[in-house]
Amino acid sequence: MMMLKNFVDLDEIEKVLVFGWRNHLKIAPLMRTQTITLKEHLQFMESLKQDSTKQYFLALQDDEILGVLCFIDIQHGISCEFGIYQNPDLKGYGAALMEAMLKYAQETLGVVKIYACALNTNQKAISLYQRFGFQFTNKDAQMSYFVFSAGGGAIKATLLHFFSTQTTILATQDYSLLAYKIHKASKNVESQSLRAIPSPFLSLCA
Ligand SMILES: CC(C)(COP(=O)(O)OP(=O)(O)OC[C@H]1O[C@@H](n2cnc3c(N)ncnc32)[C@H](O)[C@@H]1OP(=O)(O)O)[C@@H](O)C(=O)NCCC(=O)NCCS
Repeated sequence: MMMLKNFVDLDEIEKVLVFGWRNHLKIAPLMRTQTITLKEHLQFMESLKQDSTKQYFLALQDDEILGVLCFIDIQHGISCEFGIYQNPDLKGYGAALMEAMLKYAQETLGVVKIYACALNTNQKAISLYQRFGFQFTNKDAQMSYFVFSAGGGAIKATLLHFFSTQTTILATQDYSLLAYKIHKASKNVESQSLRAIPSPFLSLCA
């Protein structure tokens, strides 16, 4: 079971550990601000005590620290942006960190929109975000921008109900979030029904 430990509660050893990760070669080049000094790091951690728009956490599982999750620009009940990095000694925990991030954002912060960005070259982060239903919104010379809309779950449940009753699929606005489920379920859907699917689905169902 994943536990989140707030940065404002870290001991001195944990603070220095995070400083080492933040400047690690596997992490720093992928951050907006690349290297930071220990003084800046400690000042930043201290500033979190007074800042209700930012929350940073260590993600722990079975006594192992899996990585860091952060939420910035928090507007409770409305939106936030998130960031993530994995303990550089580990591999393959991106999905577990994303699950913990979505749970906290939705259940504790109560947000309905979650924003994210990644360097255009950071293919691992971009495909991880998209696997979790984040939609690409924009791109500039350096960064790609994404948004997750929390309403998708309700639409998904409705559609799966239609599949299970073999009823014609209804159009929905949330194409990307549903694509995988539709692909899996499409084996049971008659071709007549497939024609009712909006065009972004058709290529994924083929
Ligand atoms: C983004 C991150 C959490 C993703 O974690 P993850 O999906 O579990 O993937 P890992 O980094 O553990 O990589 C595991 C393997 O997945 C494979 N992989 C997964 N998705 C891939 C993709 N889209 N393209 C290429 N390889 C991919 C690779 O083979 C990789 O092995 P390698 O590093 O030896 O090449 C993690 O890479 C990370 O912390 N990166 C640094 C910080 C960062 O980029 N944060 C996001 C932007 S702020």
